Amino acid sequence: MSSSRFITLEGGDGSGKSTQAKRLVAALKTHGIDALGTREPGGSPGAEDIRHLVLNGDPGRWDALTETLLMFAARNDHVERTIKPALAAKRWVICDRFTDSTYAYQGAGHGLARETIRRMEALVLGDFRPDLTLIFDLPVEQGLARTKGRGKEMRFESFDTDFHERMRDCYLAIARKHPERCIVLDAAADEDTLAEAVWNMIAKRFKLG
Ligand code: TMP
Repeated sequence: MSSSRFITLEGGDGSGKSTQAKRLVAALKTHGIDALGTREPGGSPGAEDIRHLVLNGDPGRWDALTETLLMFAARNDHVERTIKPALAAKRWVICDRFTDSTYAYQGAGHGLARETIRRMEALVLGDFRPDLTLIFDLPVEQGLARTKGRGKEMRFESFDTDFHERMRDCYLAIARKHPERCIVLDAAADEDTLAEAVWNMIAKRFKLG
């Protein structure tokens, strides 16, 4: 039961996954499992610096390739300095976003070729992948309505509805392509119902009591 696991949470802006990531970390701790909550871009001091560069400023500040290189630079630092050491220490790692976000945002959203992202993924991660990915699926209008009123890091939310629709389709396509790794959840459910669904899936998948 104590062997480490790497679980990622994915979805569009306003899907509620960040709240669910925190609740999952708390639930694991309640069950005696040492869990680390982390996020992307970010999760290590250097990657948090890169996060600031990527998420602030004008929407056209970076072209898609530069932005993707920044995401993978942050990811390399995060994986090497935070995620792998935690897993080696037998901790579970719960990560709010990972490489699927790059396929969704920079790939489907900004139109960077999937193959370009795949090559960066191979270079930076080799065959390192999450044990499980939870995809929080929500109609785009609902997600965007939920993000209204958030004050900072709005660079991405300012893209149009089409951009977010392409991302949503991309996440669902990833789930179909990798059914052994991905589970899609209906993020329109209320917070408590969703947290219970998440826990039930984790408990079943990893045979927790
Ligand atoms: P957050 O709001 O969930 O913390 O995510 C920050 C933003 O970063 C979000 O709008 C999605 C974006 N993002 C990418 O565009 N590509 C990536 O690879 C990652 C990890 C995040």
